[in-house]
Amino acid sequence: MPSPKRHLVTAALPYGNGPIHIGHLAGVYLPADIYARFLRLRGEDVIYICGQDEHGVAVTMKAREEGKSPREIVDFYYEQSKRSFADFGISFDIYHRTSAPLHHRTAQEFFLTLYAKGVLEEKETEQFYDPEARQFLADRYIEGTCPHCGYEHAYGDQCEKCGSSLSPDELINPRSRLSRATPVKKKTRHFYLPLNQYEGWLRRWILEEHAHDWKPNVLGQCKSWLDAGLRPRAITRDLDWGVPVPLPGYEGKVLYVWFDAPIGYISATKAWAEAQGDPERWKTYWQDEGTALVHFLGKDNIVFHAIIFPVMLKAHGDYVLPANVPANEYMNLEGGKVSTSRNHAVWLHEYLREFPGKQDVLRYVLTALMPETKDSEFTWKAYQQRNNEELVSVLGNFVNRVLVLIHRFFDGRLPEARLLEIDQQVLAVGREAFARVEQSLRRFRFREALHQMMAVAREGNKYLTEQEPWKLIKTDRERAAAVLHTSAQLTAYLTALAAPFLPFTAERLRQWLHLDMLRWDPDVLTLTAGQPIDKGAHLFEKIGDEVVTRQREKLAQAAAPAPQTPPVKPIITFDDFSKIDLRTGIIRSAEKMKGAKKLLKLTVDIGGEVRQVVAGIAEHYAPEELPGRRVVLVANLAPRKLRGVESQGMLLMADDPQSGRLVFIGPLEAVPPGAAVR
Ligand code: 2FM
Ligand code: ZN
Repeated sequence: MPSPKRHLVTAALPYGNGPIHIGHLAGVYLPADIYARFLRLRGEDVIYICGQDEHGVAVTMKAREEGKSPREIVDFYYEQSKRSFADFGISFDIYHRTSAPLHHRTAQEFFLTLYAKGVLEEKETEQFYDPEARQFLADRYIEGTCPHCGYEHAYGDQCEKCGSSLSPDELINPRSRLSRATPVKKKTRHFYLPLNQYEGWLRRWILEEHAHDWKPNVLGQCKSWLDAGLRPRAITRDLDWGVPVPLPGYEGKVLYVWFDAPIGYISATKAWAEAQGDPERWKTYWQDEGTALVHFLGKDNIVFHAIIFPVMLKAHGDYVLPANVPANEYMNLEGGKVSTSRNHAVWLHEYLREFPGKQDVLRYVLTALMPETKDSEFTWKAYQQRNNEELVSVLGNFVNRVLVLIHRFFDGRLPEARLLEIDQQVLAVGREAFARVEQSLRRFRFREALHQMMAVAREGNKYLTEQEPWKLIKTDRERAAAVLHTSAQLTAYLTALAAPFLPFTAERLRQWLHLDMLRWDPDVLTLTAGQPIDKGAHLFEKIGDEVVTRQREKLAQAAAPAPQTPPVKPIITFDDFSKIDLRTGIIRSAEKMKGAKKLLKLTVDIGGEVRQVVAGIAEHYAPEELPGRRVVLVANLAPRKLRGVESQGMLLMADDPQSGRLVFIGPLEAVPPGAAVR
């Protein structure tokens, strides 16, 4: 097959509802980065595109949980994730976002083209609606009892206890997560993408044309979707966060997040082209034959990239189709699945705080353990071993010996050398590695490629150990020169071979060897006798057992059950809330009450008046520590008698779920008593 003129490499757009963890990196961003870096080193035309997926329920749920707006959530994670990716050398040509106006326009135009071509079907169906919150409910917004395992908090799309995927109709006692009301069915109109009409084409295109170049795990999933039969799929939703449906009469509806997100690859390419000062250039990548579009993603995204998005592209007609969809499986962590909600994860921003400068170590270990054909597992022990036994003992050791010896014996200048057969042979191993690693990378076999790169360093170590230039120098200076010249040349090859995997390390090596640039071509990497070679430093350092222990403990702590806080009460209106008159106050006196172990009698100054309040806090506070304390009082609660004493208000207290203590809630800054709290 002729090699493509250009490459458009994409990595699945991460949801803007949380930080990036090592599972994301190993599954998607790292393989795509290695691939893109390799193509750049080859001098091929490549752009690597990504961005944040900012719509959908994943974001609105998070916003609800945190009491923030969806915009605040996506803005926060956009900055954080962009930073994490950059810190780990993930070399996107652009990291765009789907809330950008350019994306909204692009997605709307795409939709309108399908609409104008008569591709879309419009149907009226009944969907769950929350009569109190007055809105249609996404599956995630419905909660109820799982019909399979009886778990009472299963969601409308999935039971997180037993893992079954569900539809809201299957839930027993469904409730809205917004208001706790029982949802009702209500009619609504939506647009559908008729996937069923493309089944024949998809079978030919995927199962025949790509039978030999797509990964077996991807082909397997596609086959089972196709065998199960495709149905029209709704591409619009009743939501207020998303790309609005650009048709009159469809106000309040947005494009389904899985319709707009992959179009994000196109809008990100447009944004990239604009930033290059050549706004039309995106078209070359998306519309000219000769582009190899390659989507990197995790296995849960296969159907969207191998079936649904290609149908959208095909139906639209102006775009190239993916040449490959190299999906990875999942990477587990220390015996369990990575879980954001249980905080069972290694977050990139935290790793970097704890292991500053060790990005390449993580890149290396994640590549060595990449879940290419089946789920894999990251452990801190494996991290330590790969670092100590491979990076330190093999790669680092080889490079260090070469540079130090050239300094010691040849004053930091590459010696002239007359090479013997044995030297030529070892150099040939380095030169041939380029083709071998390339072949593995082009087949998306990253573990194998990494192994082949390391085989060159192993070869170098073996050669040094056998030739012993530190002994030769005393008896045969010319041979010592040839051995060190050969070793330095091998290091130059290794620098380029390692660059896609270990970009930070490769850059240090490039500088130490005074190479102008790195290319995937041994001829360009030839060193010249007499040129300076820096002494360098240790590339990697050993990691001790205490690091492994500490990281394991950290995960165990995170997994400890979080304190139970009570569920949020049903929604009230603003009017309900404003009926409560809250006032700042100062406790003036406090005393025990006879025969009432739990109660204290207080007087509370609320500006114009002093109230007598009976509070159930005797087990939490001694009377003498209370006078002078600033509090908030419910001032219009009907008075009631406790043990015969009238209480003229109630103090706001928080119930600490960890200790069970009651804790005063008061103004954090000084305010006079009687100020209204709202
Ligand atoms: O699974 C996910 O994290 C999705 N946000 C991936 C979207 S990929 C693309 F289509 F944008
Ligand atoms: Zn269940």
